[in-house]
Amino acid sequence: MGIKEKDLLTMEQLDREQIELILHTAKEMKSIIKRDIKKVPTLRGKSIVTLFYEPSTRTRTSFELAGKYMSADMVNINTTASSVVKGESLKDTGLTLQAMGLDIVIVRHSMAGAPAMLGSYLEARVINAGDGFHQHPTQALLDMLTIQEHLGGFEGLKVAIVGDVLHSRVVRSDLNGLITMGAKVTICGPATLIPPGLEEMGAKVTYNLEEAISDADVIVMLRIQLERQKAGFFPSLREYSQYYGLNKERLSLASKDCLVIHPGPINRGIEISGEVADSLNSCINEQVTNGVAVRMALLYLMLS
Ligand code: CP
Repeated sequence: MGIKEKDLLTMEQLDREQIELILHTAKEMKSIIKRDIKKVPTLRGKSIVTLFYEPSTRTRTSFELAGKYMSADMVNINTTASSVVKGESLKDTGLTLQAMGLDIVIVRHSMAGAPAMLGSYLEARVINAGDGFHQHPTQALLDMLTIQEHLGGFEGLKVAIVGDVLHSRVVRSDLNGLITMGAKVTICGPATLIPPGLEEMGAKVTYNLEEAISDADVIVMLRIQLERQKAGFFPSLREYSQYYGLNKERLSLASKDCLVIHPGPINRGIEISGEVADSLNSCINEQVTNGVAVRMALLYLMLS
């Protein structure tokens, strides 16, 4: 059994069985990452392209390493130095790459739905590496792997997701995955950054940080997208941090061994204090390692 649909576009499409399979496979992959010689022949002869229309450090690099560790041929398209700048459309770029023999394309785009549209034109498989404010399924899977490794499972776990929910693709993916696996999710942030419809997705919503994180087993802090401040969603970064920043004092309200996770990049001193980011509760660097493992698992399950 692998990933049932041709493309991985959202966490919504994955049922419990598939999530368990991906997380189990990712754990096996971690043993390869820890080796001195990180190379297995699993995907020899397979061609993988990363096509990113938005900046990325973690996602793009971890997909590239994931493919290389499994001996796939990896090509990164720098859209600012490609025929995209001459006006070539996403569809034509995809068809061009497919004509060169690619097996899978990993795409990040500012438009929600762009990976789904690309997948509808290609026989090659597509992985969504983040589309607009819509979904970022591989981030959710690596977050879930991190939680599972520490806490064993998800059933009944209290998870608080805090921050700029309105503009976050991570929150929608995390919410889908965690609810599917039986966690209880509370979403928190300023009212201006909380969109409608989250209760229908299974979450509880509060605007009070202390309430959200009280007795939480996991706190997911979302990045404040600094460019949003100009749009007037909150008065100032200082005020945002005062009401919604996670510091040591607030963290003491959560369960003793509460995990703090963050998709990155973090804004130290704004949504998360440096002290919390560097604390024993923080799993931020582990998330990055797990990002490679989860992406290895997906490439393996989708290509083998
Ligand atoms: N979390 C995440 O998607 O990070 P990058 O933008 O660096 O890929």
